[in-house]
Amino acid sequence: MARTKGKIVRDTHTNADMSHQNSLRYKIGEFLGSLKENGLKSTVDKITQRVYYKIKGVDFSTENLHDLTLTGDFQDHGTALVSTSKDFFKKVFEDLETITGKKIEKNIFLDYGSGKGGAIIQARNSGFKQSIGIEFAKELHDVAELNIKRLSLKNVDSFYQDATLYLPPLDISVIYLFNPFDAVVMEKVAQNIVSLKEDFKNDVYIIYGNPSCEVLDNYFTLLDKREHVSGARVNYYKVI
Ligand SMILES: C[S@@+](CC[C@H](N)C(=O)[O-])C[C@H]1O[C@@H](n2cnc3c(N)ncnc32)[C@H](O)[C@@H]1O
Repeated sequence: MARTKGKIVRDTHTNADMSHQNSLRYKIGEFLGSLKENGLKSTVDKITQRVYYKIKGVDFSTENLHDLTLTGDFQDHGTALVSTSKDFFKKVFEDLETITGKKIEKNIFLDYGSGKGGAIIQARNSGFKQSIGIEFAKELHDVAELNIKRLSLKNVDSFYQDATLYLPPLDISVIYLFNPFDAVVMEKVAQNIVSLKEDFKNDVYIIYGNPSCEVLDNYFTLLDKREHVSGARVNYYKVI
């Protein structure tokens, strides 16, 4: 059992506490880690971007889910919001292109469990024609919409919806999952993707960050598994 704001609640995936990630101590550790893994230039870029976001009122801070307004039938199966960092996003795409040996077609990028829009915003900034995020926590989706507006971005959309109810568009090229939920939800999402596989217009790749289940191995071709110096892990799949 866990205690949140004086209430005793049942332990579930959804009430994991990630709030330590907003502490100064964690952030200093994060920057030192970035310096070691990505070098000075990349770390300075990251700090500059954070300052810019602060000035613009853009918020990608970590957020627990237990007091949020969740939609759908899988409210106990999701993980807390931890936004994808700039370094992680860049590295993941460099690795995907190395693994596939080609440039990834930047049509539509879809993030299941998109939180405050961290990954969809970076995808659009990195050249994707369109980014779509599906988020089941109303308050996080609202922040994502505000972030998109404050950065004056077009063709980036956050939808307040449970992931199992959203079917990817047929011209999708990348599906992104940053450890959003457990195997129960992943199974349904994987089945939805498989139901469309003959109709997809491009090669479709799945990036699964910090995997917490092996469901995708049963449905898609595993291209590679990589581990970053920071300890972050990523599985890469092709939908065939
Ligand atoms: C680890 S965060 C990833 C955030 C975002 N993808 C990023 O990279 O910045 C996981 C997110 O998945 C969302 N989530 C969990 N279960 C979900 C579900 N069934 N449908 C939609 N979103 C869900 C959570 O609310 C949380 O925002």
